[in-house]
Amino acid sequence: MQSDPNSALYYRTKGWDFIERGQELFNDPQKPNDKKKGYLIFKKGLECMLNYAKREPNHDIVDKIRNKMNEWLKQAKEMELVVYPPGSEKENIDHHDPFPINSHDLPGPQPSNDKRNDRSISPRPRPRPKSPITSPSVHKKKLVEGDNEKMVNNLNNAIITEKPNISWDDIAGLEQAKRSLQEAVIYPIRYPNLFEGMRTPWKGILLYGPPGTGKTFLAKACASEADSTFFSVSAADLMSKFVGESEKLIKTMFKMARESKPAIIFIDEIDSLLSARSDNENEATKRVKTQFLVEMQGVGNDDAGILVLGATNIPWVLDPAVRRRFEKRIYIPLPDIYARHALFVNQLSKTPNALHPEDLDYLCTHTEGYSGADINILIRDACYGPLRKVQVATHFMPVEALPDGRPIYQPCDPSEPGAQPMNMLDIPGDQLRLKLVSMEDFGEALKKTKPSVSQKDLKQQEEFTQQYGIEG
Ligand SMILES: Nc1ncnc2c1ncn2[C@@H]1O[C@H](COP(=O)(O)OP(=O)(O)OP(=O)(O)O)[C@@H](O)[C@H]1O
Ligand SMILES: [Mg+2]
Repeated sequence: MQSDPNSALYYRTKGWDFIERGQELFNDPQKPNDKKKGYLIFKKGLECMLNYAKREPNHDIVDKIRNKMNEWLKQAKEMELVVYPPGSEKENIDHHDPFPINSHDLPGPQPSNDKRNDRSISPRPRPRPKSPITSPSVHKKKLVEGDNEKMVNNLNNAIITEKPNISWDDIAGLEQAKRSLQEAVIYPIRYPNLFEGMRTPWKGILLYGPPGTGKTFLAKACASEADSTFFSVSAADLMSKFVGESEKLIKTMFKMARESKPAIIFIDEIDSLLSARSDNENEATKRVKTQFLVEMQGVGNDDAGILVLGATNIPWVLDPAVRRRFEKRIYIPLPDIYARHALFVNQLSKTPNALHPEDLDYLCTHTEGYSGADINILIRDACYGPLRKVQVATHFMPVEALPDGRPIYQPCDPSEPGAQPMNMLDIPGDQLRLKLVSMEDFGEALKKTKPSVSQKDLKQQEEFTQQYGIEG
């Protein structure tokens, strides 16, 4: 698979890199949904370390790796328990475990004949699954012959191998944008015969609009719904991590995309990569932009089946040549009243609440100018209302009983019949019940949460749309 499979150094570097990144991702409190990804990267690191140990001639070093491996395997086990808690399907685990680690793979003498010790570093051996974690619609990672190994590996990490699990239906409103994206990413693959003559599939789509309106969210839906290899590259990452290598990276990325078509290259916050060229910017950034333009133009390359999807909230800073290469520029506006309604209904379905349909109407009309992200924050803030109430409550009353007969308490007004003077800390966790989220909580949240998009920003977006936008 790799260009130099025998290099111990190669596996060691890769192993450490994966192990550290896996741990980091798994423990990142900002990314609770990425635990599984972190766990799989971590295990990939362990596999690399095993490969390294097999190639390392120095027995002392191998012994050290063996010791470390015990620690890592323990960690992997703990991670596995979090990712696949007991009771979740075991078969599922096997299916999702593309890098089964077996202590017998370790070279050199075993540390001791103690069977218990052996067991501790050897979780139940599992058969290598026939298919990797990639879902049928997401292609296996590919390496391109002759390319810089490190670069290809970095790019491999940008390929989304697990679907984000966001469907078109999760997106409130934005019907035209959804239709355009389906037209670009779903239909050409499913119904290729419909795309002939001038009806060629779109090669570049730019999603632009105010912050928090669902541009990245839409791209995630594409990754979930499309039968394509999905490269997700953040412009900031490309520029900061690989200074000097950026243009080669872009070249390799397009090459890899061509090798694994149909493919979608998604570049979030594209403005930071492809803003208008100026005389006083440095050579490296200029070369990146030129390379990108060349690749998007696809000179001499067969670019059918490659879609570049870009997202930005400041489209006016893009280089005019880049702008032209995004044949479709779709405005993702603030949600209208119907979209806001859908957002409220969707989010509130996840929390027990005491809202009536007319309350929803009130909320929708009073959140004009809020973005989808603002509405999410508003709802979250309101959902904290019952928790705040319970913290300051001076009286509670029993509302129900547990199977063992102990009462369940809810905060109440001191004047209510059955009210007992107590505070939250007097009540054990299983006997405490929050009140339902109410309109009063939303009233409080509305006072505190303000829209994050300014009129000035909106005006700029609308001006850009009038001048360059193409309706979805
Ligand atoms: N139309 C929508 N439907 C459903 N959820 C939405 C919608 N718009 C925004 N959201 C919610 O808001 C969050 C933020 O949206 P997202 O990250 O896609 O914004 P963005 O347009 O990419 O913003 P930015 O330009 O700042 O990157 C999403 O995770 C999603 O929960
Ligand atoms: Mg975004």
